[in-house]
Amino acid sequence: MALPKVAVVNGSLRKDSINKKLALAIAKLAANGPNGGRLDLKLVDMSDLPLFNQDLEADYPAPAQRVKAEIAGADAVLFVTPEHNRSIPAALKNVIDWVSRPYGTSKWAGKPAAIVGTSGGQVGTAIAQDHLRSILVAQGVALLGRPEVYFLYKDGVFDAEHNVTDPAAKKILDGFVEAFAGWVAKLTHTH
Ligand code: FNR
Repeated sequence: MALPKVAVVNGSLRKDSINKKLALAIAKLAANGPNGGRLDLKLVDMSDLPLFNQDLEADYPAPAQRVKAEIAGADAVLFVTPEHNRSIPAALKNVIDWVSRPYGTSKWAGKPAAIVGTSGGQVGTAIAQDHLRSILVAQGVALLGRPEVYFLYKDGVFDAEHNVTDPAAKKILDGFVEAFAGWVAKLTHTH
C-alpha cells in the first residue's frame, strides 16, 4: 500500500540549511522503517514564492498556486522551522499566509501536521516552535502535540547520505517519526 504523502515545509531557504538536513534525515528514517516505511516525505520548494501581498490574490501567482496545490494534495504536512530572532522565519509565515488565502480557500484546516526544528543554540527552536504552534492552531491544522523535538544541531550529526550518526539523536527522531505516522494514520483512517 502507498505510504501517506507528507509535504515538508522548511522555513529556511538557505542552500546548506541545517533544517533541510534535519528534514532529509527524518525523510530517510520515515522511508526506511518497518514494513517498507512509514511516511513518504517530499520537500516543498518555496524559493520562488513572492512576498505575500493581498493585491496579488486576484491574480494568484503561479508559484503560490503550485505550493498551495502541493499542500492540498498531501495527506499531511511536516513543518521544519529554524528560529529567527526568537520566532519563525519570514519565509515560513509567508507560505502560511499564501496557503490560507483568498479568504475561504485555506488548505490548512484539518490537515494533519507536526513541527520540528533545529538550531545550534541551546533553545533548539523552542520559542519559534511555540509561535508556530499558535499560528497553526488558529488555522485549524491538526497538530501532533507530542513528542516535541527541539533539536540541538552539532556538526556531523547527519552524514552525507542523510543518516543520523548519533544513536541518541536517532532514537529521538525515530520516536518522532513513529508518533507522527501514528497520528497521520489515525486522522486519515477512512473506515
Ligand atoms: C538566527 N539564529 C538563531 N538561532 C536561535 O537559536 N535563536 C534565534 O533567535 C536565532 N535568530 C536568528 C536570526 C537570524 C536572522 C538568523 C539568520 C539566524 C541562528 C540560526 O539558528 C542559524 O542561522 C541556523 O543555521 C538557521 O537554520 P538554517 O537556515 O540553517 O536551517
